[in-house]
Amino acid sequence: MRVLVTGGAGYIGSHTCVDLLLAGHEVIVVDSLINSREESIRRIEEITGRKLFFHKVDLLDQEPLEAVFQESRIDAVIHFAGLKAVGESVIMPLQYYKNNIIGSLVLFEVMMHHGVRNLVFSSSATVYGDPASLPITEDFPLQASNPYGWGKVMLEQILRDLCQADPEMNIALLRYFNPVGAHPSGRIGEDPKGIPNNLVPYIAQVAVGKLSELQVFGNDYPTPDGTGVRDYIHVMDLASGHMKALEKLDTNPGLVTYNLGTGKGCSVLEMVNAFAEAAEKKIPYRIVARRPGDIASCYADASKAEKELSWRATRDIHAMCEDTWRWQSMNPNGYEE
Ligand code: NAD
Ligand code: UFG
Repeated sequence: MRVLVTGGAGYIGSHTCVDLLLAGHEVIVVDSLINSREESIRRIEEITGRKLFFHKVDLLDQEPLEAVFQESRIDAVIHFAGLKAVGESVIMPLQYYKNNIIGSLVLFEVMMHHGVRNLVFSSSATVYGDPASLPITEDFPLQASNPYGWGKVMLEQILRDLCQADPEMNIALLRYFNPVGAHPSGRIGEDPKGIPNNLVPYIAQVAVGKLSELQVFGNDYPTPDGTGVRDYIHVMDLASGHMKALEKLDTNPGLVTYNLGTGKGCSVLEMVNAFAEAAEKKIPYRIVARRPGDIASCYADASKAEKELSWRATRDIHAMCEDTWRWQSMNPNGYEE
């Protein structure tokens, strides 16, 4: 299959490209590099021993995007491209809506022009807001509390409308829980710009000595140890979920929605301890106030994906920490030389 991957130079996209190439697919990446580096493309090729086609194109620029679709017949699109920092989206909502919504609309329009009707979309557990109960199933009500999250809710609705209007469309909405980890080679991984917002990249930078201590945001949540609980999922498990979703689209299912998580909750302190074990280092931390907007607990019921995609996350917290540590220690400055 010839697959166009938007945002393929980024964290989840790069790991998915590895799986796509190893499965024998032809891969075309479109990325503006606004939050990534071309070095990741080189490393995907190094890991797989295969060539991929890279175009530095912003989804907001319709003409060059049309040219990519014109050049070769594309069978399916995996759409990762987007800005993803929740806090930043609150400060600059217009930039987020423009990049994420308009960029996606341009992509969908170009797909329509060229008769490309199979799409996998990166959604997020953020669309469940603060869930009324746990674990979360796909039929929970959708809500959001920031422009990033609203963008995902809106794009999901746009795609449901698109499927309704065109019965030939096949779309998989994949709601990721908390992606962490790296390729086991240590050659590709998450490379946040500036100080990381997310727990695991932050811990990794403490472990490697770039940051002095972790701030644990609250230990008074109604959870077993008082710290926030999340469903962390290894990025290679996510990548394999995308492969299964592509196979599903080949059966003409229309629009399908799946949670991609492990189904298991892990607290901040459990993650700190697992990382300390993997890195064989102490992770200094301090308990501070709760972070505004955080919820106590969030974990998936991932049984729908298991039943309908024959997909299940197989890597545990220890593998997530070991692989993150290998990437971080081999590349203390990420992809920067
Ligand atoms: P990332 O920032 O590493 O990758 C996104 C890529 O998209 C980057 O390479 C960036 O340069 C590119 N991009 C952004 N806007 C673009 C545009 N207008 N045109 C072309 N390229 C553009 O992020 P990621 O963690 O790999 O996330 C991928 C997708 O998964 C995003 O849509 C994100 O919202 C979603 N997601 C991520 C998480 C997470 O915690 N990482 C959780 C749930 C959902
Ligand atoms: N945390 C800390 N200290 C930190 C960072 C995080 O204690 O320095 C805690 C948080 O309070 C939370 C847990 O670690 O309890 C996880 O926080 P993350 O920031 O890693 O992840 P979130 O669950 O808050 O959010 C992430 C993405 C969102 C996405 C959501 C669900 O950032 O975009 O997962 O997929 F919507």
